[in-house]
Amino acid sequence: MTTDTTAPSGRERAIARFAELVRTGEVEEHGGGLRLGIDLGTANVVVSVVDAANRPVAGGWVHSSVVRDGVVVDWAGATGAVRGLLADLESRLGHRFDRASVAVPPGIGAGDVRVFENVVSAAGPEPDEIVDEPVAAARALGVTDGCVIDIGHGTTGVSVLEGGRVRLSVDEATGGHHMTLVLAGAHGLSYEEAEAMKKDPRRRDGVLGVIRPTLDKMASIADRVLAGVDVPVVHLVGGSSSFSNAPEVFAARLHRPVVRPIEPLFVTPLGIPMTAGEEDPS
Ligand SMILES: Nc1ncnc2c1ncn2[C@@H]1O[C@H](COP(=O)(O)OP(=O)(O)OP(=O)(O)O)[C@@H](O)[C@H]1O
Ligand SMILES: [Mg+2]
Repeated sequence: MTTDTTAPSGRERAIARFAELVRTGEVEEHGGGLRLGIDLGTANVVVSVVDAANRPVAGGWVHSSVVRDGVVVDWAGATGAVRGLLADLESRLGHRFDRASVAVPPGIGAGDVRVFENVVSAAGPEPDEIVDEPVAAARALGVTDGCVIDIGHGTTGVSVLEGGRVRLSVDEATGGHHMTLVLAGAHGLSYEEAEAMKKDPRRRDGVLGVIRPTLDKMASIADRVLAGVDVPVVHLVGGSSSFSNAPEVFAARLHRPVVRPIEPLFVTPLGIPMTAGEEDPS
């Protein structure tokens, strides 16, 4: 008997389906009990909807620059982005949301958390749950213990979870933004041209070697955080882990297996409205 270890799990299928729902604007049939999640990131604001069984139902996103270093720097832009995404989502779903779960970078101060909450309530729904970003990622991945490394646009976040809670978390300012700067310098491009080149899967030849030292810098941040910490497996998420060589660069420095799920950009947003400890949503 052979086992197909490459077959995606229910979790992976849910993440892939959520990415598809965001990109196409489709809405999935659902069993009710809809929950809304909101992710205010440095590069993207993402909204996500799951049903009572934690199955992805709908999503939406917009590129934005309303958050920097885990702090809301553009109040009007942030509330406008959330309001616009919600209006679109609610009309596609034929459902109005009174409440939302909101993700925040782990370890930010109470005042900064309050600003995230205020952005959401100014856009409409009452924030009824504040979720640490790595906890959201872990929920989508179905893990409660271990390490989640989130490489987004602005920062590298390294978190160790125990029993579904953050035990240790460090966020440092190295992210996809820095890869874009390096790429722009290497190829004599504007920032916008370099950002487009970086995300174009057909142009990987001129990209992978150039961004590798930045990936390695991120891995070295994680290596410092994880020194002496017993985590057998590391989960890599966030848009900047999309490169084919990312798991290998991290594994070489961390001396541990590094797994990157399908569609790493959408893992944290999907997990925000999920309830913890549910069955595999296959
Ligand atoms: N296919 C891709 N290949 C390479 N990089 C990508 C790809 N798609 C997105 N990115 C990069 O991922 C980053 C955005 O990822 P993500 O949405 O996880 O960040 P964020 O949550 O907005 O930022 P942060 O977590 O730092 O606040 C950007 O730097 C973007 O250029
Ligand atoms: Mg993020």
